Amino acid sequence: MKKVMVALAVSAVVSVSGAMAADGGQLFKSKGCAGCHNPTVDTVGPSLKKIAQAYKGNVEGLVKFLKGEGKAIVDPAREGIMKPQLNSLKGLSDEELKAIAEFMLKH
Ligand code: HEC
Repeated sequence: MKKVMVALAVSAVVSVSGAMAADGGQLFKSKGCAGCHNPTVDTVGPSLKKIAQAYKGNVEGLVKFLKGEGKAIVDPAREGIMKPQLNSLKGLSDEELKAIAEFMLKH
């Protein structure tokens, strides 16, 4: 019985750390997003702060945009610059996209 409990405890720890494996901030940088999105200042793209305000409490909406299924709400006139950037997110899992969205919303 004791052995079973230990095994359960270990597998719980493993699955929790697995769920936290996706590092949104790291992905954001490695996919080149940081080049146009500064945390607080508008550069080529709007600041992360501005994006976080627009998507406040709406992780799902942000993930949808990252999947190419949503419409731009921050600066629709310049959506043409942003949309092609979404190609670099192709192949990422839902979990990874959510991690990026949550990272952006923290600003
Ligand atoms: C070449 C510059 C550039 C790069 C690189 C870039 N973006 Fe953008 N991004 C923009 C511009 C310009 C806008 C404003 C247009 C818009 O709102 O869609 C924008 C807007 C956004 C928005 C707001 C969408 C909305 O609803 O209006 C999100 C979210 C976003 N970018 C995420 C990302 C992510 C994630 C990456 C990395 C894969 C990335 N961007 C890379 C230029 C860029």
